[in-house]
Amino acid sequence: MTATMTPETLFDTLKDVRLGGTTCLYPIDKCAELTPLINDINRLKKEKNAVILVHSYVSPEIVYGVADFVGDSYGLAKDAMSTDADVIVFVAVKFMGETAKILNPDKEVLIPSELNGCTLADSLSGDDVRRLREEHPNHTFVCYINTTADVKAECDVCVTSSNVNDIIQKIPNDKIYFLPDKLMGRNLIEEMKRRGVDKEIKLWHGTCYVHEEYDPDTVQYLRDAHPGLQVLSHPECSPGVLHLSDYVGSTSQLLNYMQENAPETVLMLTECGITSRLQVEMPHIKFVGSCSMCRYMKSNTLEDIRRVLDAPREQDTIRIDEETRRRALTCIEAMFEYVEGR
Ligand code: 13P
Ligand code: SF4
Repeated sequence: MTATMTPETLFDTLKDVRLGGTTCLYPIDKCAELTPLINDINRLKKEKNAVILVHSYVSPEIVYGVADFVGDSYGLAKDAMSTDADVIVFVAVKFMGETAKILNPDKEVLIPSELNGCTLADSLSGDDVRRLREEHPNHTFVCYINTTADVKAECDVCVTSSNVNDIIQKIPNDKIYFLPDKLMGRNLIEEMKRRGVDKEIKLWHGTCYVHEEYDPDTVQYLRDAHPGLQVLSHPECSPGVLHLSDYVGSTSQLLNYMQENAPETVLMLTECGITSRLQVEMPHIKFVGSCSMCRYMKSNTLEDIRRVLDAPREQDTIRIDEETRRRALTCIEAMFEYVEGR
């Protein structure tokens, strides 16, 4: 994103973003307000040799205005490893920025969001895992990437929503402790049964408030009301919701499915960022129902991105002590080894 942006080019990109309503959320006057900020950020980015990594759940003006990489948690962790920029601005939630820092100890990693955690990551601390490990010394501890560096430092393998089932299947231990998402954990247990994999899987009690909100009765009602409806969901939704879904996947897997299958009418059971990306990239799709917003992801603003690039404060910078970083790195590298055999 290097060329100067005009209100007209921004409007042309975002004119179909309506989410559940009929009104365009980016009229030309709003685009005119946003473009000076976008152009400032893109100038500062060059001056500071910075790269901006953005999760798909973040607001569209950030995704389409200033992002160098947009993706899911797995893709962004890989992108963080591939950059030769001096500064990484990680526009998502703090623990995803921590993963970038764990992988890039010599780079400055900045986070614009003022909110530090999320309902899922906040449900579990490194002390909790230490205690559980004493109680369950024979289990392999597997943590979802949506955890803090302290938690990763205490676990054996990290997973994301794009690889959780395959990694758990491959782990050479039939006793697994999966943390912290209990709904994803229940889905994992069902998937292992489906695959004929016999493992004892213990779960923690965390949930993502965005995905927990969807309920099977509403999904069934919308299915009955819209024959031919395709239901797509994220594995942080409940098992009842997944049973009624045509496809289940990570953020990027959902987008790929849409690109490959081009369904006409869709119910997206994930954060609204995916719906807005589809409204921009596949504007002919009809969406039914509404989507849920993640207040943590949506707390990132263009103003805060400009501030961290221009004059970062101590609290905008990710710092992890070296011992924790090294142990958390082992946990993340174990994931890469399972996925890519590196
Ligand atoms: P992804 O792994 O699909 O990026 O999900 C991240 C997330 O926060 C889901 O709630
Ligand atoms: Fe956390 Fe859920 Fe928001 Fe993802 S969508 S950051 S898991 S609250």
